[in-house]
Amino acid sequence: MTTTLPPLPPDVADLLRALDAPPRLVAHLALVGEVAERIAEFCAGEGLAFDREAVRYGAATHDIGKTAHPEELSGPGSRHEAAGHALLRSHGVPEHLARFARSHASWGEPGVTVEELLVSLADKAWKNKRVRDLEDLVVDRLAAATGRERWEAFLALDDLLTAIGEDAPRRLAVQAAHPVRTG
Ligand SMILES: [Fe+2]
Repeated sequence: MTTTLPPLPPDVADLLRALDAPPRLVAHLALVGEVAERIAEFCAGEGLAFDREAVRYGAATHDIGKTAHPEELSGPGSRHEAAGHALLRSHGVPEHLARFARSHASWGEPGVTVEELLVSLADKAWKNKRVRDLEDLVVDRLAAATGRERWEAFLALDDLLTAIGEDAPRRLAVQAAHPVRTG
């Protein structure tokens, strides 16, 4: 099995190196980033307007707070969310790019942006986890942007997520091949 990772944005790769991020975390961010690209490509093709760079940056950094809470790499926990946001802000990352680190698990909140929904969706789809309420929120945005019926937008998104899901075992294996600890 090849464990070559998809590329991260160069500034994010530099930051992760400076933080001595665990290889498992770098792998996770790269793999979610790859899936976010596929989702963004699809949504752009459907006519959805959004900040593609923000989705790219958000997917590549959403779990960066786990550099401060490495126990949340192998166990549950949400302390990495606020920590990741604070960490990015302290490195001068603007709010519209830093927000994903805090928001990636709270897509039901009022005022959630389409970019945040797409990052949250990628963070589930990479391992073929289907989350109906999250998908419904994305379908709402797609239907509004295209004027299509919701069921039609859902079927198109479902096709994409099914195709992405077929690759999930490979991504899980690649991630697992990267150690939780640095060094
Ligand atoms: Fe994640």
